[in-house]
Amino acid sequence: METKTKKFKRDILNWYKNNKRDYSWRETSDPWKILLLETISQQTQLDRADVYFKLFIEKFPNPAAMASSSLKKILTLWSGLGYNNRAKRLYDSSKILSETGFDELYPNFEVLPGVGPYTNNAILSFAYNERVITRDINVDRVFSRYFGLNDVKSFVHNNKKPLLNRVSSRDLNQAIMDFGSMVCKSKNPLCSTCVLEKNCEKNIVKTKKPQEAFSGSNRELRGALLKLLLNETVASLETIQKNLKTDKVKLLKAVSTLEKDGLINIKKNNLVEINS
Ligand code: ADE
Repeated sequence: METKTKKFKRDILNWYKNNKRDYSWRETSDPWKILLLETISQQTQLDRADVYFKLFIEKFPNPAAMASSSLKKILTLWSGLGYNNRAKRLYDSSKILSETGFDELYPNFEVLPGVGPYTNNAILSFAYNERVITRDINVDRVFSRYFGLNDVKSFVHNNKKPLLNRVSSRDLNQAIMDFGSMVCKSKNPLCSTCVLEKNCEKNIVKTKKPQEAFSGSNRELRGALLKLLLNETVASLETIQKNLKTDKVKLLKAVSTLEKDGLINIKKNNLVEINS
């Protein structure tokens, strides 16, 4: 009898063949391109991430090209993506990678700033063709709904072999990711037209995701402050406070968290600049 895992693989790979989104990086096995795309695409829609990916890969075709640039240039290119820590970590990773290549770090890319288990597995799967599942929140949702699971981590760990034998892990992982964002969506999944529906456990759990308000948040202020510094080179705290029309307590919090994350320097006389 055909197992549920086999049916899942067959149906999702068929779906992928007909619905795959084409991107330039889809078939690459260049780990730098994969790190770049995966970093940019965190908290960013894939079509939008793809625009930035093209910009970045043209300017920085390899880690050495980025390592010899400046944080300021990178943050300028990054403008509009938000979560600027990601850009800083990418820059720091490029410095490590220009000394120690991916092959020397293999299979432990988590020594690179910003690389966690998901990105580590993405590099292993897409660049090294390893039999690993790239689990993120979307992939977990697909597994949990289809197989009726509470604990996706254990399921994937215990079913590595049947999940990954006779398939390309690159195709399976990207198929699940595309399926998760196009069909098995978090809100309003398209069950009525889903080609996996007949074998699906439909374990649809309502998740309430309390979204932090952006307006008035430290994240918003950090973004505005960096934007100002990208234009001004250096600015005093007083000027910044006037320009951003914020109160001092909030400004000092934004400044101190940006400094702690290595994005800015506080110089003498309360002058602030982008870290070099
Ligand atoms: N999201 C992040 N990386 C992705 C990939 N390689 N394919 C589809 N969605 C993704």
